[in-house]
Amino acid sequence: MHLCLKQLMNMSSSTSRKTYGLKILNARHKEIRRLKRDGHIAEIHGNKFWNSSFLIMDYLRQHPIPRSTRVLEIGCGWGLLGLFCSKKFSCHVHGIDADENVLPYLDLHARENNIKMTAEKKKFEQLTIAYLSQFNLILGADICFWDEMTMVLLKLIKRAQRGGVSTIMISDPCRPPFSDLAEKAKERFKEVSVVKKFLRKPVKASGEILIIKP
Ligand SMILES: C[S@@+](CC[C@H](N)C(=O)[O-])C[C@H]1O[C@@H](n2cnc3c(N)ncnc32)[C@H](O)[C@@H]1O
Repeated sequence: MHLCLKQLMNMSSSTSRKTYGLKILNARHKEIRRLKRDGHIAEIHGNKFWNSSFLIMDYLRQHPIPRSTRVLEIGCGWGLLGLFCSKKFSCHVHGIDADENVLPYLDLHARENNIKMTAEKKKFEQLTIAYLSQFNLILGADICFWDEMTMVLLKLIKRAQRGGVSTIMISDPCRPPFSDLAEKAKERFKEVSVVKKFLRKPVKASGEILIIKP
């Protein structure tokens, strides 16, 4: 069967999209299907890329970070937010996620985009003060979706403060555990802001970014 260029381009756009300088693969892409066939099935909602990452990407485009920034993406899933920082600002980015099954999807996107980002399996609860002190900026998108995560993340932010991390940004479509986290953070830390975001492109997405400079 002969396919014309237009047909080939349609095929590729139905399995991936290009936005924020990144190629993002979807569930129909053959490499994503291959990873699933190989048994990499995400267990804690890391089965796809979530739109809250776009909220922080958009914010960082307007508020760029220096190249020297050491970024930690927590609950990184497929790691597109970290990959965006690595590509756009050329900074060093590391990701952690409790679910090792998401890491091959991160590696795949790093390869497809020719971007460097390291990652490992670790839980929020395992990130010690010494570990967190290696980073200046902590990012997390859509990571506060169960009630028990509010206190886990609040404690993580406290440890990050002790470790000298300068900024923590967590974005969310405003689920109740996240709103609770934002309220508690305002009570406990000095410099806390909540930025509301509404995006029309590349998808319609809305939510908030909790920004803490502890
Ligand atoms: C809704 S997904 C969001 C993934 C990614 N941040 C994104 O925006 O596409 C939540 C991610 O948090 C991870 N996660 C959940 N609980 C965690 C914990 N206690 N420690 C570290 N990662 C966790 C999940 O494995 C999953 O990849």
